[in-house]
Amino acid sequence: MSLWRYRDRLPVEPLVTLDEGDTPLLRAPALSERVDCDVWLKVEGANPTGSFKDRGMTVAVSAAVQEGARAVVCASTGNTAASAAAYAARAGLRGAVIVPEGKIATGKLAQALMHGARVVALRGNFDEALTLVRKLVERHPIALVNSVNEFRIEGQKTAAFEVCDALGEPPDVLCIPVGNAGNVTAWSRGFREYGAAPRLHGYQAAGAAPLVHGAPVERPETVASAIRIGNPARWEDAMDAVTSSRGEIRAVSDDEILDAYAFVGEREGLFCEPASAAAVAGLLKYGAQGRVVCVLTGHGLKDPTTAIGRASPVVPCEPELEAVEEAVLA
Ligand code: F0G
Repeated sequence: MSLWRYRDRLPVEPLVTLDEGDTPLLRAPALSERVDCDVWLKVEGANPTGSFKDRGMTVAVSAAVQEGARAVVCASTGNTAASAAAYAARAGLRGAVIVPEGKIATGKLAQALMHGARVVALRGNFDEALTLVRKLVERHPIALVNSVNEFRIEGQKTAAFEVCDALGEPPDVLCIPVGNAGNVTAWSRGFREYGAAPRLHGYQAAGAAPLVHGAPVERPETVASAIRIGNPARWEDAMDAVTSSRGEIRAVSDDEILDAYAFVGEREGLFCEPASAAAVAGLLKYGAQGRVVCVLTGHGLKDPTTAIGRASPVVPCEPELEAVEEAVLA
């Protein structure tokens, strides 16, 4: 099964699909105990390229093919690039991705390269990259597959349908990391179409929190490279979505993000990337009530560098039983 089981609520035919969506929704016992509510995790890292972006990309690239596009392009902090590259490869289209130089996680770079995309490392940040690709597609017949593309939002709204169907009713609260603000916009649309109205709790990294400050951040900085964004394209949509749900947009520090990242790994057995852990960090910091779903937006394997830098060191050992005993049992 895939998100295309909601075909009747989507605007195109599934011309290009890798069987995305239908991701696990797992109860989180350790988190539930810690925050004293009923917490569930929507594991979006289980999508084909390891992030929620595939939900939007299957729809956006299907639409691009239908419209006769020959190439797709995006600006990205990494996951959109990996997803766009994979779907372009599948569709037989050319793919080009513009990423901030030195600021995307290793796994995402490997994915974009392996899928044969042209990877352009911009000496600038995500916001500059997005401004430039928007100008590029005005001049050339290339499909833009960032979340400013409505088809992306349409695909990503299916995550809200899945959560409501899996729980048998809507959750009370949705906790979600916010970067360019496309995903919170999409979840909001999905809930609305489902006739559901949970509170939306969006979390930004403290060094990249324009929606919290109410002003763009010129030089965004955070360990959560996926949400290192200073001027979200879906600013108004996201604020409308959150406000009308009686929710909130708040900031979490890098330390809080890394603590939540470790907690989810060590206590729930789930490896997510740092940006995803921002949703859990927000829940731990600000709390919530009732049944809460946290969106784990991307797989932890995307960013092995942050994981290894954070974890306890490996234990060296001689190839002898006594040494192994000591190493294992100490
Ligand atoms: N979590 C992850 C893992 C992401 O990659 C992103 C965004 C977000 C959360 C935030 O979602 O932008 O819709 O508010 N990544 C984009 C990219 C910007 O280029 O991969 P958003």
